[in-house]
Amino acid sequence: MKTPKTAWNRARSAALIGALALLAGACAEDAPLDFLNKQAGRGAERADQLWDITFLVAVVVFVLVEGALVFALFRFRHRPGREAAQFHGNTRVEIVLTLVPALILAALAVPTIKTIFDLAEDPPGALQVKVIGRQFWWEYQYTDLGFTAANELHIPVDKATRLTIEGASDDVIHSFSVPRLAGTQDVVPGRINFLTLEPTKEGEFFGQCKEYCGLSHANMRLRVIVQSESEFEQWVAEQSEDAAAPPEGSLAAQGREALLDGQCINCHAIQGTEAQATIAPDLTHFAARGTFAGAMFEVNERNLARWLANPPAMKPGARMPDYGLSQDEIDALVAYLLSLE
Ligand code: CUA
Repeated sequence: MKTPKTAWNRARSAALIGALALLAGACAEDAPLDFLNKQAGRGAERADQLWDITFLVAVVVFVLVEGALVFALFRFRHRPGREAAQFHGNTRVEIVLTLVPALILAALAVPTIKTIFDLAEDPPGALQVKVIGRQFWWEYQYTDLGFTAANELHIPVDKATRLTIEGASDDVIHSFSVPRLAGTQDVVPGRINFLTLEPTKEGEFFGQCKEYCGLSHANMRLRVIVQSESEFEQWVAEQSEDAAAPPEGSLAAQGREALLDGQCINCHAIQGTEAQATIAPDLTHFAARGTFAGAMFEVNERNLARWLANPPAMKPGARMPDYGLSQDEIDALVAYLLSLE
């Protein structure tokens, strides 16, 4: 028979194992949004330096306050025949406990404000990109270069890119965040915010919408692809071209016809065709991207066919509805989309 003691021990072991499982569950090697000690941009580095100072001060305050508390609990604990000192208020202690935190906060404000101003600067000669957050994807207008991309932001390494972040007037609040490169910036309808990216490493960096914006908030991802100057220029040259027309009589050509005759052109743009709507991602160089639908799905035949068959089934709340396309139409549209390199 179980005694109360073994039941208690079991409950305690279960609680301990549960807590350890939760702790282990929070660990991941190379998680996409992991950024501590993995900064790859000037903004993230400056924020990290500020964090180092603030954290050090917070640790010292914590140790002193908790140390004093534990000391007082022990030193002045109840003992038989002894009564605690009885008094009301202590002006000197009140003044010290007000002044010391005020001085600490004032001292911390100096590097904080300096960092805020540094990061708010508009570096001369920066590449200008307008970022618009929409349910549930990102639009990037390369305003000086004259083309528009979606979800995957290409920028050059060791050069500043100035993001002008706008909320669309017919959309909700989002938040743009690529933690390894820079801080977070809110995307608010009717407001213009700025964020400067100055990557110091080449590679692919993951981001995520950081403000709850609807059913697919968690599926509103993004990627920043940091390239060498020459790779970036090559990409710009490709993006600046109109969409290639597929060979006549091919399945892709049938897809192009279906797209331009159908509902697609009410929302999408494909440069070099009559599709010029701007409320959904620009598809001119769709197949040059690695992912689609808010950087959620890899661009491949299978994912695209599933998407066209029923977008909200793949991504809850997606604005693109199920158009009831036939399998033949889907096959042709997929062939065309994959030809848009
Ligand atoms: Cu967009 Cu959350």
